[in-house]
Amino acid sequence: MKISIFGTGYVGLVTGACLADVGHDVICADVNQAKIDGLKQGIIPIYEPGLENVVKTNVSQGNLRFTTSAEEAVQHAEVIYIAVGTPPDEDGSADLQYVMAVGKTIGQLMQSYKVVVNKSTVPVGTADKVTTAIQQTLDQRGFKAEFDVVSNPEFLKEGAAVADCMRPDRIVIGTSSKFAEDIMREVYAPFNRNHDKVIVMDVRSSELTKYAANCMLATKISFMNEMANIAERVGADIENVRKGIGSDPRIGYHFIYPGCGYGGSCFPKDVQALARTSEQFGYESKILNAVEQVNDKQKYKLFELICKHYGVWQQAAKGDIKDILKGKTFALWGLAFKPNTDDMREASSRVLMENLWLAGATVKAYDPEAMEETQRIYGNRADLVLCGTKEAAINNADALVICTEWKNFRAPDFNAIKENISDPVIFDGRNLFEPANVHRHGLAYYAIGRGDTL
Ligand code: NAD
Ligand code: UGA
Repeated sequence: MKISIFGTGYVGLVTGACLADVGHDVICADVNQAKIDGLKQGIIPIYEPGLENVVKTNVSQGNLRFTTSAEEAVQHAEVIYIAVGTPPDEDGSADLQYVMAVGKTIGQLMQSYKVVVNKSTVPVGTADKVTTAIQQTLDQRGFKAEFDVVSNPEFLKEGAAVADCMRPDRIVIGTSSKFAEDIMREVYAPFNRNHDKVIVMDVRSSELTKYAANCMLATKISFMNEMANIAERVGADIENVRKGIGSDPRIGYHFIYPGCGYGGSCFPKDVQALARTSEQFGYESKILNAVEQVNDKQKYKLFELICKHYGVWQQAAKGDIKDILKGKTFALWGLAFKPNTDDMREASSRVLMENLWLAGATVKAYDPEAMEETQRIYGNRADLVLCGTKEAAINNADALVICTEWKNFRAPDFNAIKENISDPVIFDGRNLFEPANVHRHGLAYYAIGRGDTL
């Protein structure tokens, strides 16, 4: 089938590449000229395992192309995806300007029937707004053409995006049009061979399904972080508690890892956006507000542990953090919001670094993929040293802090850490180690919800 995708970010590019890989004829369109120029030369703008290979293979086979021409994209396809960003507005609700702009563009350029597939994460009611925008634009042109707007939320995870897209758990299609449903079933038939993963429902339920999924996952994480904070106070170990509750299949082991908070481009914005949508419909969601508050506090957790260790927490708790850690240098392992990505949007490492800087400390940072991104965000500053290896980061630092659970951090040379850092202490925001193992090497160890592990 001929398919076009507006938005060549994480979702658009991965979706386009995977649809091309099963044989569809795909054009990916974006307004970012530099991104499209790069893609035409085989430069993949994001780090995502397996993506480069799928893109290059399908470009060379001729079934994946890139363009900045909206006209080319609209004329090419009967099925047109919207996969542009929906960032938070000032009040936390989803900013729909990019989605609506694509809707209008389609209305301006379409010459025949189109299925407009909304893959961006959008508040309930957006498909109706896109339908109105397209119809109004057609009316302004004085042109008659049929179209359907379908909701088809995306559930892929960064770092595993290609695998998630190739083998989805479910394919949610929100539409009341049997004609559009049949077209969407044909699009996804290659991904739906072994058992039926397609779930068809009304548009509004489909739109809410996406938010409900992300908010449920974020709630599990904030709940576990809350339990970790309780565990610390009552002298329990959250890692034992995690195993104890995860073994109940009704709870399960997934997404109950405590840590220094969830980040990324989706959980923080989607929890806020659903809370705002509920308010707009006259309902205050106490759970969603609490999930967000717990997470904001949890992102501050490592800074709190550091301040407590250095005896400056009383000052910090009053909000008086200026220069309280002056002269200290912290090695920081892990900058991305999670492993296997270079994405630092809403990463916990950023909250930590920014507080350490306010406190007058220097950060020596290392991440296997996010060094360029760190440089892009923070530029050159005297209190940030970007290191090429994790070993270089600990060299002449006072202490080690871990924000992201990259595989390569799991079995470090503890003796080398002890020799290189002046104060033998690790602050671990992802519970990577057994406290006894770290202590055996003469290092103090602070983790999340594991009690006093000095
Ligand atoms: P992104 O910021 O990586 O990419 C969006 C792209 O859209 C950019 O390249 C931008 O230049 C382009 N764009 C903006 N306006 C355009 C226009 N008028 N025409 C063509 N291109 C345009 O965003 P993303 O991470 O891919 O997210 C897209 C949507 O998917 C969001 O709603 C997000 O919540 C949702 N989502 C993201 C993920 C994820 O893991 N990143 C997963 C599931 C759902
Ligand atoms: C998340 C969802 O998992 C995807 O299904 C969804 O499609 C996507 O958001 C989206 O809508 O964009 P993603 O943000 O890529 O995917 O990453 P996750 O693996 O969900 O991790 C999010 C954050 O939660 C990370 O900071 C991670 O460290 C944290 N996390 C995750 C925990 O703190 N504990 C856990 O047990 C799991």
